[in-house]
Amino acid sequence: MAQAEKLKIAVLASGSGSNLQAIIDEIAAGLLPAELCLVISDKPDAYALQRAQKANVPTKILLPQDFASRADYDAQLVQLLQAAKVEVVALAGYMRLVTPTLLNAFPQRVLNIHPALLPSFPGLHAQRQAFEYGVKVAGCTVHFVDEGMDSGPIILQAPVPVLDTDDADSLTARILEQEHIIYPLALRLLAEGKLHIVGRRVQIDD
Ligand code: GRF
Repeated sequence: MAQAEKLKIAVLASGSGSNLQAIIDEIAAGLLPAELCLVISDKPDAYALQRAQKANVPTKILLPQDFASRADYDAQLVQLLQAAKVEVVALAGYMRLVTPTLLNAFPQRVLNIHPALLPSFPGLHAQRQAFEYGVKVAGCTVHFVDEGMDSGPIILQAPVPVLDTDDADSLTARILEQEHIIYPLALRLLAEGKLHIVGRRVQIDD
């Protein structure tokens, strides 16, 4: 039987890239029918770049200071992504807000992972925000990206109970374990054509 076309994914990352690694591993294990075409970072020293190189994935660094505006930066991103024939853009620890320039080029095809149960605790240091607020259940969210901050339609969420013995770091570590499960899973559902955005709601086929 002919193999189905693989979804062409790019990952944008600014940091350690453990979510990128989870995606690489899931593809290598044959569990995610996708091809990782490109990893782009705004930070030359992001460990994510080394993870990509080790997996023989092409990398690019785009330095924000080389561009006059965020839109100009994203226009260059779009050029690179389109040249690599990318279909889906996965933000994974990518520390820049994206502009309509990117979103319009990949409508409903830009995803993000956020380390909180949105809409609670958007923005930076979400795990610490949740811990300091005193929530009993923290977690993470994979969502489509729109022009707001961590505000697009939610695809998957995983809850993580907060233990009396937790501090912000131990909670962050357990949330990250769940991120590594739900991000590849969300991408798999997308690759399989099982996600449908209806208004704000993402419906998932069985
Ligand atoms: C993750 O917690 C992600 O949710 C947040 O930044 C962290 C990045 O981790 N946006 P990594 O670079 O994937 O290891």
